Amino acid sequence: ENITLLNVKDQEQAAQQVCKMIQGQLDEGKLDVLGLATGSTMIPIYKKWVESELSFEKVTTFNLDEYVGLHAENKNSYAYFMQEHLFSKKKFKRSFIPNGVANNLEEECAAYEKRLREYPLDVQLLGIGENGHIAFNEPGTSFDSVTHLTTLTESTLGVNSTFFDPDETIPRTALTMGISSVLAAKKIILIAFGERKRFALEKLLEGKETVEYPVTALNGHGDVTVITDLGYLI
Ligand code: GLP
Repeated sequence: ENITLLNVKDQEQAAQQVCKMIQGQLDEGKLDVLGLATGSTMIPIYKKWVESELSFEKVTTFNLDEYVGLHAENKNSYAYFMQEHLFSKKKFKRSFIPNGVANNLEEECAAYEKRLREYPLDVQLLGIGENGHIAFNEPGTSFDSVTHLTTLTESTLGVNSTFFDPDETIPRTALTMGISSVLAAKKIILIAFGERKRFALEKLLEGKETVEYPVTALNGHGDVTVITDLGYLI
């Protein structure tokens, strides 16, 4: 089995587990490059890191994705999220996030992918979308995809709209690491919390690979740990 399922009772326990895994990788000298994710699932995870003794001073980070058109000062940008929850509180060697306001988005994606190949990911942290997306790789995205410009589905726009004020427009496009960029990570830690993630998580645990559910690409990876509070019912 390539997927290790860690059943936890709550987010606090999940955060402890992730912390332990990261500490283990650091102790073994196996964490030079860390892939980071955004979303509400990651908030307790980063909070735990901030309170911990973990030292990331030698760690380079890459974020999965960013909305097109949002500056780092916009509180809905993922750059802002990272600053608020982690980067302002913990020191990292350097951090990369796709630039959603680049003049040439195609060039930005190509440069991001090139940099990823220069600094191969040791560990990638992942959340999951209700429709089975990973990063912003929506259903139908090729498993061979690299960092690219993508159009968000209505379903994702609906889910993510809760973070935006009613008068704000939600970007309909985003830059995202591709599925193959994610799969290139040596180790993947996926966190899925709450009933709304059950459907997507079940698709993954069925063990088949289908482009309809991007998360199922993880079935083709050799080292995936899934941390969830849904385990007792699966
Ligand atoms: C966004 C991100 C994904 C993330 C998902 C889940 O769509 N692009 O990377 O996994 O949100 O977010 P949440 O943790 O808030 O459920």
